[in-house]
Amino acid sequence: KKDIITLAIETSCDETSVAVLKNGREVLSNVISSQTDLHKKFGGVVPEVASRKHIESMNAIIQDALDKANITFDDIDNIGVTYGPGLVGALLVGVATAKALAFGKGIPLVGVNHIEGHICANFIEYKDLKPPFVCLVVSGGHTHLVYIKDYGEYEILGKTRDDAAGEAFDKVARALGLGYPGGPEIDKLAKIGDKDAIDFPRVYLDNDSYDFSFSGLKSAVLNYLNNNKQRGVEIKVEDVAASFQQAVIEVLAEKSIMAAKEKGSKIIAIAGGVAANEGLRALLKKRCEEEGLEFKYPSKILCTDNAAMIGCAAYYDFIKGYRADMTLNAVPNLKL
Ligand code: KG4
Ligand code: ZN
Repeated sequence: KKDIITLAIETSCDETSVAVLKNGREVLSNVISSQTDLHKKFGGVVPEVASRKHIESMNAIIQDALDKANITFDDIDNIGVTYGPGLVGALLVGVATAKALAFGKGIPLVGVNHIEGHICANFIEYKDLKPPFVCLVVSGGHTHLVYIKDYGEYEILGKTRDDAAGEAFDKVARALGLGYPGGPEIDKLAKIGDKDAIDFPRVYLDNDSYDFSFSGLKSAVLNYLNNNKQRGVEIKVEDVAASFQQAVIEVLAEKSIMAAKEKGSKIIAIAGGVAANEGLRALLKKRCEEEGLEFKYPSKILCTDNAAMIGCAAYYDFIKGYRADMTLNAVPNLKL
């Protein structure tokens, strides 16, 4: 049987990324062009700026991904593209590009859910990982606790009721005067700060709920900063970062463990930008060891947005027979 080559395109936010994969799990190239520097001066992603930059970069990045994989358009068996969730203008650039290529070259097209892509990063990292398992998806836009029953079959156990985990990191970082994106900055500072310095709230909601809530914690940090500023008390930024991060990751870790136990899953995987967090990785590693569970986490480049993970998800849909047609459109609030 011949190898299946997938070309994947990801433009849901501020990374323009194109990847080439062999048989879904082998990455031949994964070109990621980050627009972070462009958005930094605004303190966050400006949707219109992101769309325009995607258009400017797209053709060169496709060529780069083909060159690095040492293939041409004729070698491609299917094209996978993120069609949601994300910024509508940004998504449209990827979707329009993928449709044009699919139509022009007569290549089958597969639309991919971005959150599903994040989960699939684990299949690339661990070649023999198979469902079922529990996966915590934590990114700038999403916080989902998911039971992966089979390839492409998901049961959502819980999600955030307000801010996403990454959003909380970014907002607290901004209040602390750190750069954008804030997650990696807080992660760095947390290493030198005291995680027990400030007792920020751990929000578990109802005992048996797998939902999350981070907006109360965010407010608690803002109040702490305001109160101390007013009273002229010196604020140790690294202690705030460490204490805030600890409050987030403890809840993420404990709910994941609870979910794995209830589902009888021996494996917990993590995915999404916040899965790059060193504190979260260390805590879950320790807790999984204590609980006799296996812990899986993708390398950092596969945690944050990239097209390789989209290609992996597209591959599993493709071999199941899923095909998108030329009516494929961006769906900004697409659900898993
Ligand atoms: O998955 P991603 O690249 O984009 C979305 O789909 O949202 O995630 C970006 C988010 C941002 O909020 C960023 O601050 C956070 O992931 N992030 C981190 C770390 N690296 C990225 N959060 C905590 N610690 C990190 N090391
Ligand atoms: Zn993402």
